[in-house]
Amino acid sequence: MITGIRGFKDILPGDVERWQFIENTARKVFEDFGFKEIKIPILEKTELFARSIGEDTDIVEKEMYSFLDRKGESLTLRPEATASVLRAYIEHNLYKEEPIKKLYSIGPMFRYERPQKGRYRQFYQINAEVLGIGDPKIDVELMVMLLHLLKRLGVEKTDLNINSLGCSQCRPQFRETLRSFFERRLNILCPDCKRRFTTNPLRIMDCKVETCSKVVSDAPSILNFLCSECLTHFDEVKEGLRIFEIPYMVNPYMVRGLDYYTRTAFEITTNELGAQNAIAGGGRYDNLLKELGGPDIPGIGFAMGVERLALLLKERKDLFRFPKVFVAALGSEAQNNAFRLIAALRLKGIWAEMDYGDKSLKSQMRRANKLKVHFALIMGEQELKSGCAILRDMETGHQEKIDLSKGIDELIEKID
Ligand code: HAM
Repeated sequence: MITGIRGFKDILPGDVERWQFIENTARKVFEDFGFKEIKIPILEKTELFARSIGEDTDIVEKEMYSFLDRKGESLTLRPEATASVLRAYIEHNLYKEEPIKKLYSIGPMFRYERPQKGRYRQFYQINAEVLGIGDPKIDVELMVMLLHLLKRLGVEKTDLNINSLGCSQCRPQFRETLRSFFERRLNILCPDCKRRFTTNPLRIMDCKVETCSKVVSDAPSILNFLCSECLTHFDEVKEGLRIFEIPYMVNPYMVRGLDYYTRTAFEITTNELGAQNAIAGGGRYDNLLKELGGPDIPGIGFAMGVERLALLLKERKDLFRFPKVFVAALGSEAQNNAFRLIAALRLKGIWAEMDYGDKSLKSQMRRANKLKVHFALIMGEQELKSGCAILRDMETGHQEKIDLSKGIDELIEKID
């Protein structure tokens, strides 16, 4: 037997309803906030991710699915969507028609991580980006939208963590201070962090190795190094969250796992998922468009993990849909009538089912029960002669005669 790949999950009926609910709710909320959908490819040139996410990040160093195509070009299965959205924005000159764009996308991402509950090698993200607005109000608006979406999904026990990562003016000084802090503790750091110490000491803040996180907990805070513009921006974000009465925690050690962030960074976590507790994360990336060869335009966005949300919605049995009516027909003539009837109902948007083959009424009703239908419509020989059928409400057991000789309108009125 050929099995699926480790970390790549099938999403089967029974689970897929939660995916659909999450995606449909996200589309509705995003569009109410002025976002338009963008569909981007799953495969991009490796260089796009290396340049945007950063060469020294775990994603680029260890987690990308990269391969050479038949012409020897290095391609990568996208580990995230932001880089592709920005590439498309620049490539199609979207900023020329209107510099402000609010774009969302939904789809699978690929990261070669160690699979566990809530962490997979193919996982789905719902991603939102706002390009062209540097005002802190948009940072607040994005978090308001994200929390509103979570509320609509029924996910309310969450924590919002925020931080500011400074800008190209103030971050270099922080990086140097951080470097001298870690230099004095270099012998305790893990081999990866020893390397990060030279390449990008900020990445040490993200290390999950216990000894490293202990060192990080005493590290200097980036918030003491922010320039006055970054400080004002951060103050306005916090003030905006207060206006919307959104509780938040400032976490100066949250640097996020991608190198492109400037100023605001945020993450939504829950304590209901175990180790993989981040359900959404994002932040501002004011230099990224320019670094990718585009205009000097700011941007901000976030992505949420659909698998983690789906785990939180595990108990939502109300998301299942059941057929409205099961037509139980006895004898071949009644079966033919039933066959035409279910087609006519489906064309009217009513989910109808029947059994194929000559089965007993008992067996057909068993199937109707199994399908959890609202109604059964029984067509026997007797009914056939009079052009009628018996409509049974499966919940109450109430039965009544329905005249089908003049069409299906009466039936539709009763069941819809
Ligand atoms: P990220 O924090 O790497 O950010 O991922 C966002 C979310 O994707 C996480 O909070 C988590 O819910 C989910 N996620 C990440 N990796 C996995 C995995 N292996 N299995 C299951 N779920 C996972 C980004 O990707 C940025 N592009 C977000 C962003 C958009 N920043 C600005 N714009």
